[in-house]
Amino acid sequence: MELILDTADIKAIKALDELLTVTGVTTNPTIITKSGKDPETVIQEIADYLSEDQLFFIQVVKTDYEGIMEEAERISKIRPKNMLVKIPVTREGLKAIKECKKRGIRTLATAIYSADEAFLAAMNGADYLAPYVNRMCNYGDGVAEVKDLIEMLRINNMPTKVVAASFKNTSQAHELIKAGIQAETLPPDVVWNMIDHPGTKIAVGEFTMNWQKAYGRTTLFE
Ligand code: E4P
Repeated sequence: MELILDTADIKAIKALDELLTVTGVTTNPTIITKSGKDPETVIQEIADYLSEDQLFFIQVVKTDYEGIMEEAERISKIRPKNMLVKIPVTREGLKAIKECKKRGIRTLATAIYSADEAFLAAMNGADYLAPYVNRMCNYGDGVAEVKDLIEMLRINNMPTKVVAASFKNTSQAHELIKAGIQAETLPPDVVWNMIDHPGTKIAVGEFTMNWQKAYGRTTLFE
């Protein structure tokens, strides 16, 4: 599975990328505004930090077809490799995804709320599909809908990958990893909750304490 970080916080990106196997970074307009910096600065910071093999996803802001295409062209040129354009699956967006495929621009179809709209975006040539798992839960069972999507793509031999998005807790992430999701984009707090288990800290504390009691030091070798 590809682990992607859903943030524009460069400190969080660096901290987690040092610890874990991170495939890339996703942003959206709201995520970029949360950085408190201007968009050009944030985008450049992240682009400079990521290795050329890591993926960087930036979302268009314009909503009309011509505007989306203009921004998609510019986003795709930010880096020579592994730059992907996020396009919401509106009518205009679907048309743009189809055109991007023709022009060789890699896309992620985003703001997905149903397996059906995701599947149609995949047919238009989207490279990734981002169903909004947590937000979908306001309309039904988001996790089940994404499981359906995985199955629909598999049965139809579609190459498009699902990068499940909009996570609010570790159990949503867990359920979809178990279902064989190809990628998840997770906010840093969800990732920290996955790795900072209190039981692990207690166990390590016990090892150190017992060792020190027995040998009077906290290292294996003197
Ligand atoms: C990522 O691609 C999405 O834009 C993001 O996960 C949406 O998350 P939210 O539902 O927390 O806004």
